[in-house]
Amino acid sequence: MRLSEDFMTELKSRIDISEIIGEYVDLQQKGKNLMGLCPFHSERTPSFCVYPANGSFYCFGCGAGGDVITFLRLVEHYDYIEAVKNLAERAGMDFEVSEEDNAIHQKKLLIYKINRDAAKFYHSSLLKECGKEALSYLKKRNVSLKTLKHFGLGYSPSTGYALVDYLKKIGYNSEDIILSDLAFKTRNGKEVDRFRNRLMFPIIDVKGNVIAFGARTMGKDMPKYINTSDTPVFKKSSNLFSLNFAKKSGKNEFILTEGYMDVISLYQAGFDNAVAGLGTALTVNQVKLLARNVDNVVVSYDSDLPGQKAANKAIEMLKDNGLEVKVLSIPKAKDPDEFLQTYGKDGAVKFKNLIENSKNDIEYKLSNVKSSYDLSSPNDKVKYITAACEILAKCRNSVEREIYAIKISEEANISKDSVMLQINKIIKKNRKKSEKIEFKDIQKTTSALNDNINPEKRNHLRAAIAEESLISYIINNPDVANTIFKSFSPEKMITGFNKRVIGVLKDIVSEGKTMDISTISQYGFSFEEIGRITRIMCSYKPSSGTLNTIEECLKVIEEENEKIKLKDVSSVSEQDVMEYIKNLKNK
Ligand code: GTP
Ligand code: MN
Repeated sequence: MRLSEDFMTELKSRIDISEIIGEYVDLQQKGKNLMGLCPFHSERTPSFCVYPANGSFYCFGCGAGGDVITFLRLVEHYDYIEAVKNLAERAGMDFEVSEEDNAIHQKKLLIYKINRDAAKFYHSSLLKECGKEALSYLKKRNVSLKTLKHFGLGYSPSTGYALVDYLKKIGYNSEDIILSDLAFKTRNGKEVDRFRNRLMFPIIDVKGNVIAFGARTMGKDMPKYINTSDTPVFKKSSNLFSLNFAKKSGKNEFILTEGYMDVISLYQAGFDNAVAGLGTALTVNQVKLLARNVDNVVVSYDSDLPGQKAANKAIEMLKDNGLEVKVLSIPKAKDPDEFLQTYGKDGAVKFKNLIENSKNDIEYKLSNVKSSYDLSSPNDKVKYITAACEILAKCRNSVEREIYAIKISEEANISKDSVMLQINKIIKKNRKKSEKIEFKDIQKTTSALNDNINPEKRNHLRAAIAEESLISYIINNPDVANTIFKSFSPEKMITGFNKRVIGVLKDIVSEGKTMDISTISQYGFSFEEIGRITRIMCSYKPSSGTLNTIEECLKVIEEENEKIKLKDVSSVSEQDVMEYIKNLKNK
């Protein structure tokens, strides 16, 4: 995909990468660069770096990196065109793309359209004769007509061909229907509806596009729910059910539940700010999505043991990403839906009460451990204090820490000072541990041993280091690239990935394009590969990057090539060896 060079240059000159990334990440100036907590993985100390000078970012923790377009693609899950369009709008530039550039984007738009038509079909089926049973199922669960219309709930007929036939009739081809994961092909080539005889829950993104479906059986068969698999417009791990509606509520607090039905019952009871995961444990992407929309989350998971375990994990992740967390325990009911049903008319008021009296994350965890010990037994008392101090050691606010320390000391009838002493000990221990872990993470992404991007680096470390210096030198000094490529062929590169990169750099030079990470990104590299190239580019130090060092690099690459040839020699015929030695002598 190639947009005009002039357009991209103008666009980039009008855009400030640190300003755009700053909307997602709290950045602190560090010399010429900016650092912050990486939006792509969970961390407590910043390893995410923005380099305004060359318009790039790189995370030393997870290896994500690239230009501002790559950033938007990763963080918003935009395709290339959507990312450029977004930037062009900010920069106040008109944006037109060629037919070919538009192909992927058009495909996504088509899938949105198919999904929307499918949602309409499911919805109207629910209100027809074939949907009678589904409608009465919803009635039995007290879902009103108004509510089911609001969420666009539907029914997928059981015949197996109803939706495919309908979609084909209104003009879609089977390939695109299958791409949307609304149907699949059987072995004899016939398309079959993916969802049959199920209650349908459309999943809608914040822009109002129908991106997927959840589908619940009305009987006892398993699995209870199935979901659309990942498609070009949908990633299960990066979306939430009802985020579109919750966002519209304008509230700065979302209620996070496990089930679609919880969200629906809550809405009907007047809580228009509930969202649910999509059948998997809460993911980092989903947490980041929440953090972009609100500051506060009320975790309202199922009250059974798995639900509590899931809540504990969710709390950690939410806190790690800067959200204020409250936790509901739902008395005498499995989940929020069941709670609301149990109390009927009074459900809404009672649930509101639950929220108002809900505990913050620390109180929640403290009360959980407290309930598992018998404080009248000295043995248990010690265990309780130890467990409680572990919890408080994780709390980052020192005032909060002290308040709860007082509470524990009173409960256990010991001095506050000894509780604080214990907490501080644990904090120190944890700090050492987390430094070790983060250092290991960094080592993992930078070590040649587990390098999936350039696996040959492991066996050709000396060559690979020289190659990477060469790459970083050329990107940072494009004026001399021409001279270098006159005498140096990319074929000389030893490791595969670096060879590919140098090949692209040579193309960029000969095509007269701007040498930067944005241009490089357009040559078919994966996100991981773009991250790697960014790291190589940003590791450049002008002081050491003299032409001398380039000669040094070229020499090392040459030497390593010779070594490889020599190794190969051992496996060839005597005659070839003589020939080779003769050549060497001549040299
Ligand atoms: P009801 O039983 O209708 O009240 O549904 P629920 O929303 O309360 O479901 P439950 O608490 O059993 O599960 C919570 C969420 O996990 C559901 O909303 C689904 O998103 C997901 N889920 C549940 N069962 C399955 C399953 O069998 N497969 C998959 N993929 N997801 C499931
Ligand atoms: Mn339920």
